[in-house]
Amino acid sequence: MTSRDPDIQREWQRLFDRFLRRLLELEPRSVLDVGCGRGLLVHELTQRSIPATGVDTSAPGDDPQIIRADAAKLPFDDNSFDWVTLRHVPHHLPNVPAALHECARVARAGLLIAEPWFDLDDPIQRVSERWDRWWKRQHERAGDVHRPCIPLNELIAALPGEFEIEYEHYRHVAHISAHAIDVLSQPLLNALPESHSDRTEYAGIAAEIADRGFTYNGTLILTASQTA
Ligand SMILES: C[S@@+](CC[C@H](N)C(=O)[O-])C[C@H]1O[C@@H](n2cnc3c(N)ncnc32)[C@H](O)[C@@H]1O
Repeated sequence: MTSRDPDIQREWQRLFDRFLRRLLELEPRSVLDVGCGRGLLVHELTQRSIPATGVDTSAPGDDPQIIRADAAKLPFDDNSFDWVTLRHVPHHLPNVPAALHECARVARAGLLIAEPWFDLDDPIQRVSERWDRWWKRQHERAGDVHRPCIPLNELIAALPGEFEIEYEHYRHVAHISAHAIDVLSQPLLNALPESHSDRTEYAGIAAEIADRGFTYNGTLILTASQTA
């Protein structure tokens, strides 16, 4: 979830920092960041003298370090990079196994993958996850691939071949105001026909958020090291 809301931005940064810390623990000699967005991770690594390249289907194409390419068709030879990273990208991919197969092909050491994660044992996170599904469904209706968060077992099942697996469900309870969630939701609500059932569902979710509150998602960090 991205937004100009300062609380959301702070939590986004916290999850980014946690992911970066894990990547640095792996002492990468080079990194390909797949679905790199604006290239924040690539630039962060470059500043630390770690060779880094990014690919993204939405890359403008004017930065030689950030290449426009699809995760499922990477323009690199086998084993071109030490680690390949995907941060909060899998739930945007139409075919996760095909993309992870391709990422593994170019990764000598392994894949470091993060997916947003809600702790469903927590009633407030359950409400937040319900809103997340509603929000993503609106994006899908508009033609984007934006699926619910992919859980650990599905990510592992989508990996090709044998990997050594380590993972962490990183959680930090951060309250986000109901107003910030409403600001994100209103343009999507406005795009819905008056009689659409998602309007009724949103009213129910908004009432629950007003009652219980909303907390930001955590992140699942999966390290898949090549065994061969
Ligand atoms: C939620 S954003 C995450 C961006 C970045 N990794 C970060 O942590 O800020 C998902 C990104 O994946 C990119 N993306 C979606 N499908 C892709 C694909 N098939 N191949 C490469 N990038 C893709 C999107 O353009 C978007 O920049």
